[in-house]
Amino acid sequence: MSQYILELKNINKSFGAVKVLKDVSFELLPAEVHALVGGNGAGKSTLMKIMTGVYTKDSGEIIINGENKEIHSTNDAKANGIAMIFQEMSLVPTLSIMENIFLGSEIKKGAFRDVAAMKVKTKEVLEKLGLELDPDTRVSDLSVGMTQMVEIAKAVSKDVKILVFDEPSAALSDSETARLFQIIRQLKENGVSMVYISHRMNEILEICDRVSILRDGQNVTTLNTSDVKMEDIIAYMLGDANAGHQFEWIPRTYDENGQDVLEVKNLKINEKLNDVSFSLKKGEILGLAGLMGSGRTEIMETLFGIRKPLGGQILIDGKEIVNHSPADAVKKGFGLVPENRRREGLILIHSVRENAILPVSAKLIKHKIFNDDKRINRIVSDNINDLGVKTNDMNDEISLLSGGNQQKIVIAKWLNSDPKILMFDEPTAGVDIGAKGEIIKIIRKYADNGGSVIFASSEIAEMMAVCDHIITIFDGRITGELKREDIRTEEELQNAIQRK
Ligand SMILES: Nc1ncnc2c1ncn2[C@@H]1O[C@H](COP(=O)(O)OP(=O)(O)OP(=O)(O)O)[C@@H](O)[C@H]1O
Ligand SMILES: [Mg+2]
Repeated sequence: MSQYILELKNINKSFGAVKVLKDVSFELLPAEVHALVGGNGAGKSTLMKIMTGVYTKDSGEIIINGENKEIHSTNDAKANGIAMIFQEMSLVPTLSIMENIFLGSEIKKGAFRDVAAMKVKTKEVLEKLGLELDPDTRVSDLSVGMTQMVEIAKAVSKDVKILVFDEPSAALSDSETARLFQIIRQLKENGVSMVYISHRMNEILEICDRVSILRDGQNVTTLNTSDVKMEDIIAYMLGDANAGHQFEWIPRTYDENGQDVLEVKNLKINEKLNDVSFSLKKGEILGLAGLMGSGRTEIMETLFGIRKPLGGQILIDGKEIVNHSPADAVKKGFGLVPENRRREGLILIHSVRENAILPVSAKLIKHKIFNDDKRINRIVSDNINDLGVKTNDMNDEISLLSGGNQQKIVIAKWLNSDPKILMFDEPTAGVDIGAKGEIIKIIRKYADNGGSVIFASSEIAEMMAVCDHIITIFDGRITGELKREDIRTEEELQNAIQRK
């Protein structure tokens, strides 16, 4: 009898001519939390989708409790107690929480849906996870973080023995992540084995027992997290040891006495965020630092015309403006790389190329170079090179790209449109550690060329690496403004963020 609850042996998988997994093996122990890490496009999601029946392997074996099994569908996986929480949200936004949880497995009373029973069961599951949600709430009315929690609720509502989390924390607030970790520990105590995919190394060391590293569709190694340092994992991922230096701050200059490009005066967004004031100069990178949920996203969404302010003023080059919609904001020179790319950032049925030039199109038409295919191809292939986007062909549908590579295209798209003020809300969520450094360099270059940037990230190291100025926000209030050169350590910034 095998000590493993599940073994994947020599798994191979190609999409068209591209070999995505090459003889990959993976072993899962009972009641362990096993991290799966690797660069964007390394094959993590694909391997797990094979285990959960979303994709079928070309060759290799799946062994569950010592027995060879075929998994050809998610139902096969379900029958073996395997479930996955996807990187791409898989809930139906127009349905309620309850309807989503019971989609395809409704409780029936004779020929009818037993709504009362499903509601009770939904409430039970939500309560078990510490979620105070009404089962009748529509998923489209939930925050990104809560939507993710409902995905988890849906998975644990079935009797799972093996649960895969594909970057669950990318969209969660700090407190939601803490709750997720409690849930994981609780599941572990109940004997559930879990696979945890993440680009956040500190999480892996905190919550996982072992870590397996994939690079370019191949196994690198599997280690106990207690025996390994963060730098080692990164080195295994990238394949060379000189990583980790890309987050260094390089002091930059811009005209600190110049006119403000943007002024925000006493902006009132809601009851909590009711007096937001700051300004931004040409070439400046301004950080909005705060815990998730502190109001950073709301501020950017208001500037971008997604939310309607209840009071206060927004001025561009000294003139008051009102953005009635994102299209309006784009016309006035704003760009936003949003937190939730699937809802707002991309048109998934379009190609990589079309997505990358989306906001540029209007400008290209104006300059009569819209049909200049060569020039457009050059722009997009530069993007692909600069950001290390893993794609076979820029004309491929963007939904075929791995999660992190999709995010890079969202960033490329906004850089291409060359707005006056470019806002980044958690731009590196889901992006691998190598590309994070590249993104920071590109943002810096953009500002060096005269663009102004508003940047928010929950990764303190990134804020420290890229910002000239940092505004701290606590619970909707601006609590301080710091010059980057006056902040000596990450702890100092962390403390400033937590000060009321
Ligand atoms: N359905 C598909 N058709 C074609 N190519 C695909 C398909 N699904 C994945 N790929 C390709 O397979 C490779 C591995 O993708 P995968 O999603 O497994 O990466 P990943 O390790 O999960 O990356 P990330 O960290 O960015 O999520 C990528 O190059 C991706 O473009
Ligand atoms: Mg993935």
